[in-house]
Amino acid sequence: MSNLNRSRVGPSTKLVNSTAAARVKPVGGSADAFLQAIAERRSVYALTRKSSIPDERVVEIVQHAVLHTPTSFNSQSNRAVVLFGENHVRLWDVVAESLRKILPPEQFEGMVGKVRSFQAGYLTILYFIDTKVVKGLEEQFKPYAENFAPWAQQSIGMLQSNVWVALEEEGLGASLQHYSNLIEAEVKKVYNIPEEWSLVAQQPVGVPAKGWKAPEKDAKPLEETVKVFH
Ligand SMILES: Cc1cc2nc3c(=O)[nH]c(=O)nc-3n(C[C@H](O)[C@H](O)[C@H](O)COP(=O)(O)O)c2cc1C
Repeated sequence: MSNLNRSRVGPSTKLVNSTAAARVKPVGGSADAFLQAIAERRSVYALTRKSSIPDERVVEIVQHAVLHTPTSFNSQSNRAVVLFGENHVRLWDVVAESLRKILPPEQFEGMVGKVRSFQAGYLTILYFIDTKVVKGLEEQFKPYAENFAPWAQQSIGMLQSNVWVALEEEGLGASLQHYSNLIEAEVKKVYNIPEEWSLVAQQPVGVPAKGWKAPEKDAKPLEETVKVFH
């Protein structure tokens, strides 16, 4: 884990340049490198079949994030599956074939290009919630029962974000896709996934295509989205 422990020095100058942060008077501190990494994570749709890091490093990042992302009651309901090579390519064939079955041909043609752009990446990470864990919590802690499903969703979102930011830091682009309902049964068959795992999201990953640049994005005024009381 040596790479994960490496310290990064110096406050970020770029942090204050991002749209929303530009309105905040910079203070600066030890978290600047982390905050900068958060700001640099973007949805990257122009992917190539290349990786900037060894496969083992990708696995290390996913394992590290699963270990350290919080879950309610430390229930550890998050699951991840990392697909490389033919396994990655197959996933997006499953998506395309599933779309072909439900869409009229013209609509399918309109959507399949997007699917092929995800397939053009190097790997895909699948995110699941283990519903057996959630059900166990609902039975064990009845007063909180209705909270465990949304809490599990919140936690898997944290996991996705942690992995996404780390991959970005390693020079990889990624996005977050949701074909889950459409492909879940086939995915379970193809990859031998336990029935109790519920598919939440698919994250295609690869080195961004040459010349790719994140588009500008709007930010609501921070006065509207963050309230501060001293
Ligand atoms: C919970 C959640 C669901 C999302 N679902 C999708 C999706 O299905 N397809 C997609 O292309 N992007 C999806 N996104 C990405 C957002 O559209 C994107 O993060 C947002 O527009 C901000 O752009 P950025 O990622 O470049 O910062 C999702 C993001 C979140 C947090």
